[in-house]
Amino acid sequence: MAQTTKVRVWDAPTRCFHWTLVALVFFCWLTQEKGWMELHFLSGEAVLALVLFRIGWGFVGSQTARFAAFLKHPMAALHHLKDLPKREPDTELGHNAAGGWMVLGLLGLLLLQVGTGMFANDDESFIEGPLRHLVSKGISDLAGKVHEASFALIQIAVALHVLAIMVYLVLKGHNLVRPMILGTKEIAGPVTHPTMVGPLRAIVLLAVAAAAVWALVHTI
Ligand code: HEM
Ligand code: HEM
Repeated sequence: MAQTTKVRVWDAPTRCFHWTLVALVFFCWLTQEKGWMELHFLSGEAVLALVLFRIGWGFVGSQTARFAAFLKHPMAALHHLKDLPKREPDTELGHNAAGGWMVLGLLGLLLLQVGTGMFANDDESFIEGPLRHLVSKGISDLAGKVHEASFALIQIAVALHVLAIMVYLVLKGHNLVRPMILGTKEIAGPVTHPTMVGPLRAIVLLAVAAAAVWALVHTI
């Protein structure tokens, strides 16, 4: 068996971000199904704070979490997908070239979801997003329609996301879930360990993101 090295590929903030996001998106769906709209707004605003945090972390976070590290030319992503069926050792220290675009797509869809929710209204029970007063009824109705449609897109994107992870496991033998839980990966061959940033910076960034969302919802 080839010699492997245990490498920390995901820092704790990125892992906490991911699994909290999964729980909150599910909770957003559940609360609106049950008609618990106050909780729907709160959990949606928490999703916005998390996404803003992740965007900031993409610039000032650990090496593998930075956009500059994982956003490659689209051709590189296509090239990567071409080799998908090839069974080979996992040498990836962060997102692969195709996964990087998936991250951007998921974050973009989540921004669209929370952004439209802010302006949406529900004619039946007079439920209104916190920024509804800034736009006309027509724009608010449109925001509601986009809010509904973007949730359908999120469901498709998440299904593809999970499918891709299963494909990596079955075709390539790469377990991507374990590192997203534990943070480490066994890498074959020589490696340069990625630079990790301490949790204090993440805590400050999350507090700034949460304060920005609070200000957006309560002062505008
Ligand atoms: C609401 C559902 C989900 C959303 C919105 C979501 C979103 C994301 C995002 C934004 C990332 C990028 C992480 C980062 O760099 O910060 C990511 C990565 C990842 N997600 Fe999810 N995810 C969801 C569900 C799941 C589920 C159910 C699984 C488990 C099967 C999963 C497994 C992973 C893994 C393994 C990665 C890392 C992939 C890699 O190594 O490149 N996700 N996800
Ligand atoms: C990831 C976060 C979110 C998810 C997954 C989500 C999901 C949904 C879904 C599925 C609906 C029902 C749409 C329909 O069938 O009509 C809905 C309705 C609604 N949501 Fe969200 N939402 C999120 C965030 C937010 C946020 C941040 C706000 C505002 C603070 C918000 C405000 C509303 C309002 C006002 C409605 C009723 C309008 C309507 O029925 O079209 N949502 N949401």
